Amino acid sequence: MKQIPQITKAVIPAAGLGTRFLPATKAQPKEMLPVVDKPAIQYVVEESVDAGLRDILVITGRGKRSIEDHFDRSFELEHYLEIKGRQDELIKVQKIAEMANLHYLRQGSPKGLGDAVSVAKDHTGDDSFAVLLADDLMDPDVGVLRSMLAKHRETGFSVIALKEVLPEEISLYGSVAISRCDFSELVKITSIVEKPSVDEAPSNFAVMGRYVFTPTIYEALKDVAPGKGGELQLTDGISKMLDVEPVYGYCFTNGRYDIGNKLDYLRATLEIALDSADIGTQFAKVLTDLAKKRGLI
Ligand code: UTP
Repeated sequence: MKQIPQITKAVIPAAGLGTRFLPATKAQPKEMLPVVDKPAIQYVVEESVDAGLRDILVITGRGKRSIEDHFDRSFELEHYLEIKGRQDELIKVQKIAEMANLHYLRQGSPKGLGDAVSVAKDHTGDDSFAVLLADDLMDPDVGVLRSMLAKHRETGFSVIALKEVLPEEISLYGSVAISRCDFSELVKITSIVEKPSVDEAPSNFAVMGRYVFTPTIYEALKDVAPGKGGELQLTDGISKMLDVEPVYGYCFTNGRYDIGNKLDYLRATLEIALDSADIGTQFAKVLTDLAKKRGLI
């Protein structure tokens, strides 16, 4: 039997304009917005490292400098923390720069997620690789990416994370044609469409921001024309890949926090704060007090 090589590389596209968070994202990358006490992209880098992928390529663009600074050493800050004896903070700061091998490539202009992924070819070459979007944060205990990598090793083909959403929400996502999808099962995807209307959606199974791709995706993306919103869509690339080789969906149910729009971002921030060992109990009290003060409970 053909041995499927272990994947070692992850790609995090972070070159988008983040217009849903304006004006917060006018001069600051969306991926650097804090969720409790860490920027969103740090959660995603930690998830990648947890899944065994320490070689991480970030696709950046204009105004994304702070991402590189965040994952770099900060000798001045480290020196300050050291002489003040703030050991815990020092360790936290040093860990950020040491946990992974970060690489950066720039997307010329934000022409779409499909275009951003195709930039990664110079780094991943003929290897299969994972893609993580910082719009979705995953509960580390659920281990979606780790399971997807294992499924890739079983099949040798691309694996895409899928979750069932409400019919009225499917127009916000890529939707796939599958009949059913049980937790942690693989299903063969037969077609995929970006942000369909409720009537056009092949199912309520939506593509979430985790992918494992074979290099075939690069060939497929070459043929993609501007699609929904005038952007070069990754979904359209996946659709073309279906003509060449199988693409599987990996279904999961829990442990995803959407932070791609304001309301969900706030909800995710509250949930993650409530679950935090550090401030969870105190924060629950703050929320209860606020709700009482407003006569809501
Ligand atoms: P989104 O569509 O959610 O990000 O893309 P966006 O375009 O920055 O946000 P809005 O819709 O204007 O608010 C998902 C991920 O893909 C990256 C984004 O940075 C985000 O992390 N992306 C998107 C790119 O890297 N390049 C692009 O051309 C588009």
